[in-house]
Amino acid sequence: MRAYYFDNIRGDQRLPHDYVPSRPVSKETLDKLNVKFWIIPVEGYETKVDAVAAERGYKHRDVINVSKEAMGEIYEKKIKTFFEEHMHEDEEIRYILAGSGFFDVREASTDEWIRLAVEPGDLLVIPAGIYHRFTLDEANTIKALRLFQDEPKWIPYNRSEETDFNRHRIEYLKAIGVGA
Ligand SMILES: [Fe+2]
Repeated sequence: MRAYYFDNIRGDQRLPHDYVPSRPVSKETLDKLNVKFWIIPVEGYETKVDAVAAERGYKHRDVINVSKEAMGEIYEKKIKTFFEEHMHEDEEIRYILAGSGFFDVREASTDEWIRLAVEPGDLLVIPAGIYHRFTLDEANTIKALRLFQDEPKWIPYNRSEETDFNRHRIEYLKAIGVGA
């Protein structure tokens, strides 16, 4: 997984949007945002993913395929929804099995976007309460394992004044030591 600041230049969301020169983001910076990731080779991934899942209490999982072929008519609409800036009241955990894409996460202290370019083998944990969004890249396809604790609470709450006061948002900011 490669992490860098998003250049904010208008245009196709599927392009890399890397500054020239690039502004890489370190693992330490991601740690401070409570964004966690592991690299687990896809070949024989089951045991290692099972271990992380057991350690973190993710009891359930399913597989999501995001591509025009897999999604059909809802594809365009879904792609737009995924790219709306939002938060969840639960962690969003994804293990990339095939394809690639971009998760953008907001750095709370600067309000800048950090782009996470994911590829097969990346296991990513996006914490509850962080503002984020997702897009495919120009290859237009990704297959990911979604892990979750109990009932998935993946309702996206689009960023608004209301979400700024969401309990999970406030707890997140407290956890990373930003704001109040
Ligand atoms: Fe999300």
